[in-house]
Amino acid sequence: MRRPRVLSGIRPTGQGFQLGNYLGAVQHWAAMQDDNECFFFLADLHALTANPQPEQLRARTRESVAELLAMGVDPSRSTVFVQSHLPQHPELGWILSCLTGFGEASRMTQFKDSQQRDKGEGSVGLFTYPVLQAADILMYQADAVPIGEDQRQHLELTRDLAQRFNHRYGDTFVLPAPYAGRAGERIKDLQDPSRKMSKSIGGNGTVWVLDEPAVVTKKIRSAVTDTGREVRATGDKPGITNLLTILSVVTGDGVGELEGRYEGRGYGDFKADVAAEVVELFAPVRERYAELMADPGHLDSVLAQGAASARVVADRTMTEVRERVGLLPPAPARQAG
Ligand code: TYM
Repeated sequence: MRRPRVLSGIRPTGQGFQLGNYLGAVQHWAAMQDDNECFFFLADLHALTANPQPEQLRARTRESVAELLAMGVDPSRSTVFVQSHLPQHPELGWILSCLTGFGEASRMTQFKDSQQRDKGEGSVGLFTYPVLQAADILMYQADAVPIGEDQRQHLELTRDLAQRFNHRYGDTFVLPAPYAGRAGERIKDLQDPSRKMSKSIGGNGTVWVLDEPAVVTKKIRSAVTDTGREVRATGDKPGITNLLTILSVVTGDGVGELEGRYEGRGYGDFKADVAAEVVELFAPVRERYAELMADPGHLDSVLAQGAASARVVADRTMTEVRERVGLLPPAPARQAG
């Protein structure tokens, strides 16, 4: 019996990872490493959809590896790799795109949002983005995919594509478990709690994992709150609700319990405590990150080993997929003489 397979990815975009990436995804990755066979990767091909500067993407990819390890991803227990080191991903993405309906891909909310943002001028890469994501997941026959809420729809598409492929060509792919909501699945922007905290938006509403403690404190203290003084998670208090969620996920204390603790104490005390907890959470991450960045040879060897382990699984999947869909295998090269 194999241990359950876990896979997830993160894009090396923005100026680093943010609090939502940690609470919604990476903290769970770190916690799953003992009981599962884990694959975690930097989705640099997905990052290309934002058209980053080449040097910046390269640097961010390397820094992202260090950041992931600093946040607790452990390459001695998990396979850590860079997506573009495995050309099998876009190959499977292409094959799956031939099973994806145009309308189906058009209904992805992340794509629709980007269409709105780009006024209909977005790239084909943004359109096929979820299909490549499905390929990432199915390649490793993942049983579970720890992600934040914004990726839920892409996981549903992945399950649909796996089912369609299996039905058409015979049982090939494991269906990853549907997304199960967890605390911290949707951390909101501190300045605009109607939208999620995001690497690509940044600004004072985003707490970067590597922010200086004084910056974290300032951002949290100036988080938008509502009029009134009561620390309660109610629909008309999205800012306070978001901070309560953060505090609850970081400390492990229930939201109800926290509401009781801050009864009659106002927002000031509350925000100071949230800031202190987040600073404490990331202090060791900042330290470890600096150590890891000082040893680029180590990061290179982690990625080389990760790619080698990932390749074993990816090759196995692709040999089967190519055969099932009817691609002619290349003839073995003739021996000279
Ligand atoms: P990305 O890089 O946008 O985000 C990485 C992970 O962080 C989660 N996340 C959040 N969770 C809670 N609150 C937030 N404000 C918040 N912001 C981000 C995301 O849900 C995600 O889990 N498409 C993916 C990368 C990807 C991938 C994959 C993931 C490519 N292939 C295969 C899983 C499996 C993405 O853009 O993540």
